[in-house]
Amino acid sequence: NSFEPCDFVLFGALGDLSRRKLLPSLYQLEKAELIHPDTKIIGVARQEMSVEAFVEEAKVNIKKFSSESLCEETWARMQARLDYACVDMKEMDSYKSLEEHVDAERTMVCYLATPPAIYGDICRGLHSCNIIDSSVRLVLEKPIGHDLESSMVINDQVAEFFKESQIYRIDHYLGKETVLNLIALRFANSIFTTNWDHNCIDHVQISVAESVGIEGRWGYFDDAGQMRDMVQNHLLQILSLVAMEPPATLEASNIRNEKLKVLKALRPINSTNVNESTVRGQYTAGFVKGEEVPGYLEEDGANTQSQTETFVAIKAEIDNWRWAGVPFYLRTGKRMPTKVSEVVIYFKRQPHNLFGESFKNLPPNKLVIRLQPDEGVEITVMNKVPGLTSSGSMDLQKSKLNLSFSEAFSDERIPDAYEKLLLEVMLGNQALFVRRDEIEQAWTWVDSILEAWKNTNEPPEPYQAGTWGPVESIGLLARENRSWYESK
Ligand code: BG6
Repeated sequence: NSFEPCDFVLFGALGDLSRRKLLPSLYQLEKAELIHPDTKIIGVARQEMSVEAFVEEAKVNIKKFSSESLCEETWARMQARLDYACVDMKEMDSYKSLEEHVDAERTMVCYLATPPAIYGDICRGLHSCNIIDSSVRLVLEKPIGHDLESSMVINDQVAEFFKESQIYRIDHYLGKETVLNLIALRFANSIFTTNWDHNCIDHVQISVAESVGIEGRWGYFDDAGQMRDMVQNHLLQILSLVAMEPPATLEASNIRNEKLKVLKALRPINSTNVNESTVRGQYTAGFVKGEEVPGYLEEDGANTQSQTETFVAIKAEIDNWRWAGVPFYLRTGKRMPTKVSEVVIYFKRQPHNLFGESFKNLPPNKLVIRLQPDEGVEITVMNKVPGLTSSGSMDLQKSKLNLSFSEAFSDERIPDAYEKLLLEVMLGNQALFVRRDEIEQAWTWVDSILEAWKNTNEPPEPYQAGTWGPVESIGLLARENRSWYESK
């Protein structure tokens, strides 16, 4: 990794992602003095616009989407490095104008915050004007494809001009502090390292609940659904980090090799087991946080016949030595009661009871890793209730060992995922980006489920907005005498 100056070229600089996330994250990096003093940030979009107008636009959005007021000193530094180039990304001739904005001697980072359908055009355009060489880094946003086949087409188009070592595929969950902390928890603590397998763990739950609906994105979402929008990428990435073998080092290829092995070991779900292993749902009108919200089919622009899922629960199984017989239950949905993402590790119960009839079903220890919000780690343990009893027996009570990030690290600000990822791209470290084979393996598993759902031809189960999904999702665990962890 090296802290060197670069030309950071942001394609789609006037789009939603740039406005809401990328420009505010670059501002935070600027504030933390994590952008090299000589780095330039060049916004690229189709619209004719002066540099001054782009600078103003950036300022407005940074103010709007940052949770704090603008620091004038930071902004003065950032403003000085902003530039703007007007490029029609589908017109090859148009890319020529980029040449005068970048320095051929420096590393160029091209961030494509554009629809993936034009990734191929942009790569060709960059190539046509001779400003790419082997030092260029290309950052790609999701979704990369709609299924395995279409993702391969996009990856092939990009691969015509860029080597895999130049490509940084974003899954923003990999930039979240608490997702990264999974690596620290697992491999910096022998208490977990030595207990992390089928001998000690009963099952794992990964829940990513959202209270928002589709946020005016009907066109995109209805085509994707929760499976493509959340499971194919974010949930499978979390699962891979929880389940992977210890990598030899934290170097990119070692981590990615281990994650890929997990994805390869996922037991296929197809028509033979889809009913017992999955639940899909679609929200109907209801109340979320006290506010009345429409059902999915009543959202603006809705196709009232849509069978797209807004909720998915899956019992995933990993067919390898470490995880034999340990289900990983995944659950994610829109319009749930609250926004919360958690990984919960359920350890096995004690094999024998020393504490008499009233404690014959001692609850299992649980490790709850709260990814967001109220980031933290909690372990439930059984504890003796202090005091004397007439029978002389011991009273037990479930207690919590609780690490809250906001209390333990009260002086530290938790950075947004994009800050971490933008920094890593500028440092040239690929470890937190998804390799082509990982994406394709994830699609293979997901495609099989989508295909099986299509073949059943059954509509998704309805669930009222503001609830934890269809009752069938409770059944998925109840059948095996388990239940979903109830978030605080
Ligand atoms: C995005 C999905 O990738 O992740 C959105 O497209 C979803 O539909 C979002 O709402 C969730 O991200 P976060 O960081 O808010 O949990």
